[in-house]
Amino acid sequence: WLIALACLAGGYLSGSIPFGLVFARLFGLGDLRQIGSGNIGATNALRTGNKAMAALTLAGDVLKGTVPVLVASRWGNEAAAVAGLGAFLGHLFPVWLGFKGGKGVATYLGILLGMAPVGVLVFAAVWLSVAAIWRYSSLAALAATLVVPIACVLLGYNAAAVLTAVLTLIVYLKHHANIRRLLAGTEGKIGAKG
Ligand code: G3P
Repeated sequence: WLIALACLAGGYLSGSIPFGLVFARLFGLGDLRQIGSGNIGATNALRTGNKAMAALTLAGDVLKGTVPVLVASRWGNEAAAVAGLGAFLGHLFPVWLGFKGGKGVATYLGILLGMAPVGVLVFAAVWLSVAAIWRYSSLAALAATLVVPIACVLLGYNAAAVLTAVLTLIVYLKHHANIRRLLAGTEGKIGAKG
């Protein structure tokens, strides 16, 4: 139990680092929460027009999920899953930002990378296909995160299947505004300035 708690806390601390906010500030681009959708993730970072900053945000938000999962995996798959959950919750509810964080898609990908690397291929294939056709990051994320838990079940990644099923549910809840905009046809396309 102590190990589980340490994994959850360690994961949370890692996940709570708001790379988007930090990099936007470092690049002199202001507060990401005042731009576009107001989200602190890479999609919104790209709306600043600075691709390098968006790429760094993506890398940081992915790795802050991967690192705690890999560290915790020495205590087994369940410990890795708990660390992944911690990282995801840290990104969504960072104590440093009054618990108002991001939507979790990049960190989801990072957790998957640590737990079931093959699942990353499934995520990437679905995300890239949907994004190439419709140019909506949110729609691509909703499609990818729907397919990943099913793929994990089929591939026999049991701990990852349970974890990603929970994370997908949370991703959908966090995208309620995006889903509304998609249905209304007002969602911003990838790279369009906000
Ligand atoms: O990965 C986040 C994406 O799904 C939505 O981001 O900024 O368009 O709300 P945003």
